[in-house]
Amino acid sequence: MKAVKIVKDVYWVGVKDWSKRIFDALIPLPEGTSYNAYLVVGSEKTALIDTVAPGFEEELEEKIGEIKGIEDIDYIVMNHAEPDHSGAIPYLLERNEKAFLIATEKGADMVKAYYNVPDGRIMVVRDGDEIPLGGKTLRFMEAPWLHWPETMFTYLIEDKILFPCDFFGAHLAGGFYDDDVPDLLTYAQRYFGEIMMPFSTMARKALHKLEGLEIEIIAPSHGPIYRNPGKIIEAYKKWSGGETREKVIIAYVSMWGANERMVRELAALLTAEGVDVKVHNLVNADIGEVAKDLVDSRVIVLGAPTVLGGAHPLAIYAAYLVKALRPPAKYAVILGSYGWHGRSRDSLLEVLKGSNMELLGSLEVRARPKKEDYEKLRQLASIIMEKVKGGVE
Ligand SMILES: Cc1cc2nc3c(=O)[nH]c(=O)nc-3n(C[C@H](O)[C@H](O)[C@H](O)COP(=O)(O)O)c2cc1C
Ligand SMILES: [Fe+2]
Ligand SMILES: [Fe+2]
Repeated sequence: MKAVKIVKDVYWVGVKDWSKRIFDALIPLPEGTSYNAYLVVGSEKTALIDTVAPGFEEELEEKIGEIKGIEDIDYIVMNHAEPDHSGAIPYLLERNEKAFLIATEKGADMVKAYYNVPDGRIMVVRDGDEIPLGGKTLRFMEAPWLHWPETMFTYLIEDKILFPCDFFGAHLAGGFYDDDVPDLLTYAQRYFGEIMMPFSTMARKALHKLEGLEIEIIAPSHGPIYRNPGKIIEAYKKWSGGETREKVIIAYVSMWGANERMVRELAALLTAEGVDVKVHNLVNADIGEVAKDLVDSRVIVLGAPTVLGGAHPLAIYAAYLVKALRPPAKYAVILGSYGWHGRSRDSLLEVLKGSNMELLGSLEVRARPKKEDYEKLRQLASIIMEKVKGGVE
């Protein structure tokens, strides 16, 4: 793929990583990802906004080379220090002796630690600072914790383009513009759940800051470029605002069928009432899909057998993820099973401690659910229904 002109003198020079399958050693990437970098060519100065992941330096250099030489770059803007966007910084600074690296104060501290960049090469910018390139002006906006403490957005004033790095991103290699990918918001929701949901408060602050800013194009550093930014901004307002739907997520594991039976029954009862139920068997669940469903579910159900005195390790992992990702759901329900002495519920509650979720109810069965347990499941279903239909409190 070649460099792509977005508007006059603004080019995409990123790379598509079609075959990457795991991000941050945690997040599955069924459709790969992209590391978008952008070259802004002013009449006086040239700036590169974000770079690419380690291993793609030469591809970046080739694309930049279609427009300018690496030695012609005056500024390398680092919106985020994570190596998927900043991994090529050492390569570029070695081949270009004049360019300044532009970063927030925290960013400057990060590049020293991660890439050993000397002070003399770093230009620290503060919120609202502008750099003229000649006919193109870059404005920097501090937007911390999206996704690390040092993050910022860059805004190209004349063309009304926002470069928010990870924010508004999506992990997929395919598609170039938003209208190329019909279900892009689904990818964006998954990405929000995986990466941004734990920082929803900071996301709301950033969205507030963007209000009043004219934005014609959002050019994030993962996934397609938005030429119609309205939809993704609205979606981010909903997701970061904790707007949930009549939706329940059930994540469970079952060795010999007890939890399986309970989950199937509960899912059937809720589905019959018109609830959107998403069931994830943790044995082969895609954690990215779990994260996506956590974004707008109103109730979270966890189901786990007792194994070696506690909940099955896969359920412990899921409970840990739920706590770390900080989804908006206010209610949890726990299903469990045991052979001689149940401990699964309590060990899951231990993991969830401090997550501010209210336990709506739980059911632990011995070996397999009996008739009276199915009655208890019906009661649980109606308690869940009350909250689901009750909306957000
Ligand atoms: C490897 C293994 C370890 C287990 N450890 C415990 C235990 O520590 N305490 C207990 O009460 N039951 C234990 N059990 C029994 C299961 O919790 C019980 O069979 C439960 O009903 C299984 O639920 P499931 O059918 O959803 O897998 C263990 C079962 C297995 C296979
Ligand atoms: Fe990141
Ligand atoms: Fe990223």
